[in-house]
Parts: sequence; C-alpha cells; structure tokens
Amino acid sequence: DNLFGHKNCLIEVNPGKVLMPPRYEEIGDRIRSLEVRPDDVWVVSYPRTGSTWAQEMVWCLGNDLDFERAKMVQQFRTPLIELTAVLSHDEDDFTKALGDSVAMVAGMPSPRFIKSHLTWDLLPEQMTTVKPKVVYVARNPKDMCVSYYHYCQLVHRLTGDFEEFAELFLQDKAPIGPIWRHILSFWEKRDDPNVLFLKYEEMKKDLPSQVRRTAEFLGKKIDDDDVEKLVDYLSFDKMRKNPAVNLEVVMAQKYGEERMAQADAKFIRKGQVGDYKNYMSEEMIAKFDAWTEENLAGTGLSFE
Ligand code: A3P
Repeated sequence: DNLFGHKNCLIEVNPGKVLMPPRYEEIGDRIRSLEVRPDDVWVVSYPRTGSTWAQEMVWCLGNDLDFERAKMVQQFRTPLIELTAVLSHDEDDFTKALGDSVAMVAGMPSPRFIKSHLTWDLLPEQMTTVKPKVVYVARNPKDMCVSYYHYCQLVHRLTGDFEEFAELFLQDKAPIGPIWRHILSFWEKRDDPNVLFLKYEEMKKDLPSQVRRTAEFLGKKIDDDDVEKLVDYLSFDKMRKNPAVNLEVVMAQKYGEERMAQADAKFIRKGQVGDYKNYMSEEMIAKFDAWTEENLAGTGLSFE
C-alpha cells in the first residue's frame, strides 16, 4: 500500500480478495445490483489490455459505423461503469463534471455499450441470468505490466520504480488483481454464446479478421469496404489523434501537465507487442514466463 499515493481497499470476493481503487466501496454494491438488459453489450478487461481499442471497435460495429456520433467522448457513449471509484478522492471540477458513472449507465437508453475492468465476481449479479453480450479483452502479462506501470504512476500515484511494480504485479498485488483470476474467469466462459474472447496480439496481427469476428458475434453484417474504413479509423495513429478516445487531454485537465510528463502518461502510448523487452531484465522475463506457465497450465490459454 505504501507504494500508492492513496489507500486502496481489499474487497472480499468468493474465494479470495481483490485490491480495488479508493472509492470502490461507495459504488460496489450498486454495481452488483444493477439491472442488466439482454441487449447490453459489455466490454470487460483487466486494465491496459487494449480495451479502449476494442471498446471503440465494438461501439462502432454496434452503431453501424456512425463516425459522427463517435466524436462524442467515449465515457458518454460507452462508459466505464466504475469510473467514479477509480478517480481519487479529489472533489475537483473534472470529477464532478463526470458525475456518477453507475447512475449514468443505469439511465442510458438501450442498447447500452458498457465498459468495465471489474472481475467477473464484481460485475452485476444479473450478468449470470440475463446473459448480455460480453466481449473480453486479454493481453500478454509482460506488456500489460509495462503499460499498467505508466498508468498507475498517474492514476494510482504509484511512487515505486518499474522493478517494484513488476514484483507487486507478480505477487497479485496490483490494483484490480489478481490478474489470473480476472482473465481465467472469462476464459472459462469463452465458448458461451454470449461471450467473445479477444486477444490484443491477435488484433495487432490481423485487425480485419478480428473486426469480422466481432461483427458476427454482435449479429452485424459488414462488407469489405466498411471493414477497411473501420480498420483505418481504429489504427494506432488515428486513435492517438482522436480526442474522443485518447483521454490524454481530459487526463491533463485532471492531473496537470507536470504529473502527466513525470509519469510518461501517454494514454495511447506505444501500441506494440513486446515493449516489455525495453523494460524487463532477463531475470524478470524468466519470472514472468514461469508465473504465466504455472497459472495457465492445463487451461488451453496462451499468449504470443
Ligand atoms: P501501451 O501502453 O503498451 O502502448 P487500455 O485501453 O486497456 O487501457 O489499453 C491501453 C493499451 O492499448 C496501451 O498500450 C495503448 O497504447 C494500446 N492501444 C490503444 N489504442 C491502440 C490502437 N489503436 N492500436 C494498438 N494499440 C492501442
């Protein structure tokens, strides 16, 4: 806890515990009891897996590539349901302007597009009975750790260096961890008709085929021209320049340019597979690989 600038809370789930951001206790029960609708589409992931990218793909497919309406900031089209909890205790203008993220979701017209980084156990209870569509995004843990390190410096006021953060990550002590519990609880559901399991590395390798796969899952027809248009819209360079999805401007308002620069806080940062090689020692890579192998043994899940 002393590596983070604010106190996180440990939430008991069944079985085990999840480390949650500061204000989670204010909204956790309201999320669990939220009314789920059959035509909801949920995009769920551990943080820094490419979820903003997948979220934009899903929203565009679900809204017939309405690029005009997509100019609205993502949080107002496809809100992160627990955003209120992620923002620190500061009662600043930015936090106030965003309002209550759970109330926002509850009041949205159907069909709703909703994002969450919560584990399966902390999502609404009705997910199990109503079975809305769920798109889960996973990414290889080494790149995810590097990406999350930069993000935690800013949002969770992490003060340690990368080595310290990586050790926390390996000990399942990073916020919203343990990560394997997160990933595997959705991997187990990958063959359910209402669940689509995406991987960041597959999106990087062949985005058109992941766009087609997602369109089919959402029950949307898409022709080759539209696939091309969407792939271009979702390219790293276009997303980086798109103020509706690249929250850097919004984050700079909240956290200040100085802290952004200190944290190397690029929301849409490098977008590469294998960036961990620029941060991890051989020894650290070996630890991550052993940890991954141990946790994925017998599950059929692997990462490139
Ligand atoms: P890096 O920090 O490795 O660059 P999330 O949206 O879940 O927070 O994930 C953020 C990660 O997705 C960041 O990874 C970000 O750069 C990457 N990302 C965002 N948009 C992307 C795109 N269009 N193409 C590839 N990667 C993208």
